[in-house]
Amino acid sequence: MNGNILVVDDDPNVVEVITESLNREGYVTESASDGEDALLKFERFDPDLVILDVHIPKIDGFQVCSHISSNEKNYDTPVVMISDDILSDSAMEGLKCGAKEIIKKPFSIDEIVAKTNSYLLQADEKKVIKEKNILLKTELQKGRADYDDVHRELKRKILNLRTLFDLSQDLNKLRDPQELIHVLCLTFIGQLGISSVAIFNAESLDTGKLTFAGGTGIQENVLRTLSFSRDSKLIEYLVSNGGVLDLGVRDISDEATEEKKFLFDLGFKYCFLMVVKSNHIGVILAGKKINNQEYSENDLEMFSFLCHSATNGLANSKLYSELQSTYLSTIKVLVSTIEAKDPYTNGHTKRVVKFAKLLAEKVGLSKKDQEIVSFGAALHDIGKLGVYENILNKSSELTEKEWKVIKSHPEIGANIVKDMKFLESARDLVRHHHERLDGSGYPDGLRGEEISIGARIVAIADSFDAMTSDRPYRKALSYLEGISQLKKQINKFDKEIIQHLVDLIESGTIHK
Ligand SMILES: [Fe+2]
Ligand SMILES: [Fe+2]
Repeated sequence: MNGNILVVDDDPNVVEVITESLNREGYVTESASDGEDALLKFERFDPDLVILDVHIPKIDGFQVCSHISSNEKNYDTPVVMISDDILSDSAMEGLKCGAKEIIKKPFSIDEIVAKTNSYLLQADEKKVIKEKNILLKTELQKGRADYDDVHRELKRKILNLRTLFDLSQDLNKLRDPQELIHVLCLTFIGQLGISSVAIFNAESLDTGKLTFAGGTGIQENVLRTLSFSRDSKLIEYLVSNGGVLDLGVRDISDEATEEKKFLFDLGFKYCFLMVVKSNHIGVILAGKKINNQEYSENDLEMFSFLCHSATNGLANSKLYSELQSTYLSTIKVLVSTIEAKDPYTNGHTKRVVKFAKLLAEKVGLSKKDQEIVSFGAALHDIGKLGVYENILNKSSELTEKEWKVIKSHPEIGANIVKDMKFLESARDLVRHHHERLDGSGYPDGLRGEEISIGARIVAIADSFDAMTSDRPYRKALSYLEGISQLKKQINKFDKEIIQHLVDLIESGTIHK
C-alpha cells in the first residue's frame, strides 16, 4: 500500500514497533515524540493518516487532534488515537476532538496495520470520488457555459427574427416604391450601423437597366450617373456567385474586379443582387461601418436577411404598381364605354374622378381609401351601360317609367363591379352615389352617417360636375353658382365636404 503515516508516541519502543510494521506494508512513516513535534511534522510531512497517543508531553493528544481536525484542508486525513482507557471520558473526548477511532492499549500491531489499511483504502476511494466530482463539476460548468452561449445566441436570433418579422410586415404595407426605398435605406443604416447605402432597381419586374432608386451617405450626383445593365460583369458575377458579395475581396482573374474596385473606392463594402423568379430586380450596396470596424458575422447575417426582406418588399410593391396600372387601364376602357353611350356627359367621369380624388385627400382619407374613392368615382355611372341609349340621350322630359329606369343605374353598376374582385371595394360608392343625407336619395334611401364618407364625396363631385356642365336642356352653371346650389341643399350634402370644395376652388386647385 502507498501512503504517508505519522506515528506520535513518547515511548520510542511503541513508535519503533508500529513504524517497522507499517514500512513492511509499504508505507512511508515519520514519527514524533511530543505534541509540538507532532504538529510540526504534520505540516512538513503532510501525512495521509496519523496514529496519535493520547498522553504525550508538551501538547496532549486531544489538543493535537483538535488542531489537525479543525483545519478544513485536513478533513480527509484520519487520526487514530491510542489510549490507555477506552471506556473513560477521555476516550469520548478523543472522538469529540475529531479522531476517527480510539484504540485501547495494549494493542495488537496487526490491528493497527489492518486499521491503517482500511482507512487509507477508504481515503483512496474518497479521493477517487472527489476527483470524479471535480471532473463532473468542471464538465457541468463547461456545459453551463455552452448552454449560456447557445441561450445568448438563440436570444439574439429571436430578436433578429422579431425585428425582421416586424420589418417584413411594415414593408408589405408600403405600396409606394419611393416610400419603400426610403424606409429600406433607413433600415439598413439603422440596423447595421453603416455610413451609406444605395439601392438600384429596375423599372419593371422583367425589363430594363438597374438605375439609382435611392440612397444615403454617398454623393447622390455620382450615384445617379451609375446604372447596371443585365450583362454587366458585376451582375454576371453576382448571378453566378449569389448571396452577399464582399467588394473588398478581389481576384485579378475575376472579370468584375474593376467594377468592384470602383464601388469599393466610392465607399461601399458589400453588394447584393435582388432576384425574383430569375429576374434581377435590383442591387443593394452597403457602405462601411460607422465605427470603422469590420462587419461581424451577425452583421452579415442581418444584412443578408434585410436584403431578402427588401427583395420581397420591392417585388410586392412592383407587382402592386403593375396590378394597379392594369386596373386603371381596365377602368379607362369601362369609362370610355359609358361615355360613348352618353355623349352629353363627355368628360364627366374624368372630372368627377379629379374632384373626388382632391376631396378625399382634403378630407384626410388614407392613401388606400383615396384610391378606393378614385376607383368608385371612375365607375360611379358604370350602371348606365344597362340603360337604353334612347332614354339616356332623350332631350325632352322623361316619363316616370323612364326615370325609374335611369334611377336603377347605381344598382346595375354595383352588380357589375360585384363580380370584379379588384373593384369590390368601390362597390359601395357605385351603389350609393345618389344617396342623400336627408334620405331622399336612391336606391336604398340611406340617411346621414349611413352613407359612407367615400359615397358622400362622390355624390358631391358628381352633382357639382353635372350642375357646372352643359346639358342639352340647359347651360352650365359657373363654379360659384354650382357651390351656391349645393349650399342650398345643405340637408342633402355633407357641408364639410362642400367647404373643402370651396377651398379647392378658391385656392385655384379646381378651375374651369
Ligand atoms: Fe349616377
Ligand atoms: Fe354621374
